[in-house]
Amino acid sequence: SPSDPDLVERARAAKEKLGDKVFVLGHHYQRDEVIQFADVTGDSFKLAKDAAARPEAEYIVFCGVHFMAESADILTSDDQKVVLPDLAAGCSMADMATAEQVAECWDVLTEAGVADQVVPVSYMNSSADIKAFTGRHGGTICTSSNAERALNWAFEQGEKVLFLPDQHLGRNTAVRDLGMSLDDCVLYNPHKPNGGLTAEQLRDAKMILWRGHCSVHGRFSLESVEDVRARIPGVNVLVHPECKHEVVAAADYVGSTEYIIKALEAAPAGSKWAIGTELNLVRRLANRFAPEGKEIVFLDKTVCFCSTMNRIDLPHLVWTLESLAEGKLVNRIEVDRETERFAKLALERMLALP
Ligand code: 13P
Ligand code: SF4
Repeated sequence: SPSDPDLVERARAAKEKLGDKVFVLGHHYQRDEVIQFADVTGDSFKLAKDAAARPEAEYIVFCGVHFMAESADILTSDDQKVVLPDLAAGCSMADMATAEQVAECWDVLTEAGVADQVVPVSYMNSSADIKAFTGRHGGTICTSSNAERALNWAFEQGEKVLFLPDQHLGRNTAVRDLGMSLDDCVLYNPHKPNGGLTAEQLRDAKMILWRGHCSVHGRFSLESVEDVRARIPGVNVLVHPECKHEVVAAADYVGSTEYIIKALEAAPAGSKWAIGTELNLVRRLANRFAPEGKEIVFLDKTVCFCSTMNRIDLPHLVWTLESLAEGKLVNRIEVDRETERFAKLALERMLALP
C-alpha cells in the first residue's frame, strides 16, 4: 500500500546506503509513494537535462516510462547505468510508431517526390529507433515544452515537417503556435497503403502528422470542457497539448506538466482550475494548493491514470534500490551504439534549440 511503513523504510535505507552512487528521477505522473524518493521531479524535457547533469552518479533510476529511460541512457556517459524499476512501463503512444513503419513512410515520401523537403520532428515520446531515424534525416526531437521552437527551427531547414508520433501535439502546435490552418496538416496512417494519402496531398501539405495519440489525454473531450464550465463558474481550463485539437481550442491555457505546475504556483488564491492531464499529478496539485485556497479539479468525470506510468510503484522501487545496494544491476536500459549515435544527434539538436 502507498503508506506501507516497512517499504518506505526499506527504500529509505537502500537509498541511503547507495548515497551519491544513485540518482532518482521522477516524472510528474508518478505515484506519490514513488515521488517521495525522487531527487528531482520534472517534465520529460527537464528530466532529460537533469539526467545529463549528473555524471557522478553510477546509477540513474528512472521513475517514468521506457522512452524516458532510453533518452537518459543516450544523454549520459557509457559507464553510467540507467535503470527502469519495471520493464513493463512502456508508452502506448511511443509504440504507435515502429522503425519499420517509419522507414516505409519515408519510402512513401520519397516516391511522392517530397522527401528532400521534409524535416522530421519527433516527440520525446518515441523509441530510440525513431529518434535515430530523426537524427539521420536531419531532424530534431521535441517535448511538449519546446514543440513550438522545434517546429520553427524545422521550417527554417525545410518546407515540410513529418511530425511523429503524436498527431495532437503536432496539430496543436502548428495551428495554435505557428498560425497554420487545419488544411495545412494531413494525417499519415501507418496501417494504410501509402499512409492513406495521395502524392498530391503530400505535395500540398506543410505538416504530415503521424496517426498516433495518447490514450490518457485522448479521453478528454469538448464535452468535458463544457461540463466543467457549467459546473464551476469562472473556472480556468488548463490542458496538456496531447489533448485533441477541439479540447485545446476550447481551453484557456495549454502546456506541459511543468508549465501546468508553474501556472498553478502563480495562480491567485480563490482561483478555480480544471486540469486536463494525468490524474496522479492533478491529485497531487489539488492537495498541495488546497491550503492556499486554490480549487483544483480533474477535467473529466472518469478516473484516468496512465497505466504504464503507474507500473512503477513502491515495491518495484524498493526491489530496484535494494538490488543496486547489494551490487546487483537490474533492469538496465541500454541503447545500442549505432542507434545511440543518431538518436543523440537529434536530442542534441533539441537541446541546442534557441
Ligand atoms: P511532459 O512531461 O513533457 O509534459 O509529457 C507528458 C507525458 O505524456 C509524458 O509521457
Ligand atoms: Fe504515454 Fe500518454 Fe502515458 Fe505519457 S501519459 S506515458 S504519452 S500513454
